[in-house]
Amino acid sequence: MLIPFPIKNTIDSRRSVRSYKMTAVKKDVMDEVKDYAKSLYVPFEHNVEIKFFKANPTKALYTIMKSPPDNMAFMAETDIISITKAGFSGELLILFATSKGLSTCWYGHYKLAELERLMPHLQTPEQIKESNLGYGYAKGVTTGRRAICISPLGYYECGGLRLMDRFQNRVISFKRKGIKELLANPDDYDKLSDDIIYALDLGRKAPSAGNSQMWRFAFDESYKTIIVAMPEGYRHFKWEHPNVDIGICACHVWLGLIDKGYNPKIVVHEEYGRAVWRISI
Ligand SMILES: Cc1cc2nc3c(=O)[nH]c(=O)nc-3n(C[C@H](O)[C@H](O)[C@H](O)COP(=O)(O)O)c2cc1C
Repeated sequence: MLIPFPIKNTIDSRRSVRSYKMTAVKKDVMDEVKDYAKSLYVPFEHNVEIKFFKANPTKALYTIMKSPPDNMAFMAETDIISITKAGFSGELLILFATSKGLSTCWYGHYKLAELERLMPHLQTPEQIKESNLGYGYAKGVTTGRRAICISPLGYYECGGLRLMDRFQNRVISFKRKGIKELLANPDDYDKLSDDIIYALDLGRKAPSAGNSQMWRFAFDESYKTIIVAMPEGYRHFKWEHPNVDIGICACHVWLGLIDKGYNPKIVVHEEYGRAVWRISI
């Protein structure tokens, strides 16, 4: 099967979880996740690798919460196209893990020195200094293959959150903009088929750093191609790599069209410093 999980249910049930039991993922489940990572099908050429690593039960890596034993890193080069493909591929892993009952959370602001200690991956010691005040791989495009983002893999520990984090998890977490707000041209809405609206609805539910939802949707003249990109010149004051999030959103839109029985064509280009995805039926 092309997509080995129920698409809509899995997207609707995924949440970023920031409180974990300090227990390892059951072996048979971990084997399934690893097998999926190895055989991952994405509809384009790419160089993304999913690495699995163990962590200690301390706050050294994620800083607001203790690491569960199992974690994964989405490895790629750091140019715009590579990181947006890391977003696309990584989200398939996140959704697959969700469908197996595991909790996850995309993390762009992990502690780089701790990740390097747990999972040596840097090419030179100098690369440590490129992280932004110690967090993430670098402020922008840089040398070598890096951990673009990481995620815990484990079981939700109910009640393990501080009040503030619980508030973030419950209230901010699943708030999303409506489809109309996300159209580059709001007049397009009336021209969209039900299937395209279905795909955009799954797209708008994608996770994004700080829940910024920086994606905007545009179309070709026939309304059979969905264009997913951030607005030209978009900047976020805290998150340096929003093209990762654009890849995640493109993945959800692609999954939505597959769920409706299409075999969508997909291309991604760099335009004016942004990743621009075109997904066509
Ligand atoms: C690329 C990316 C990076 C993220 N980085 C962090 C992070 O460093 N720390 C964190 O607590 N959450 C991080 N998040 C999780 C978002 O805050 C979360 O996805 C968003 O608030 C929406 O909530 P939901 O995932 O529960 O739907 C990240 C999400 C994405 C997509």
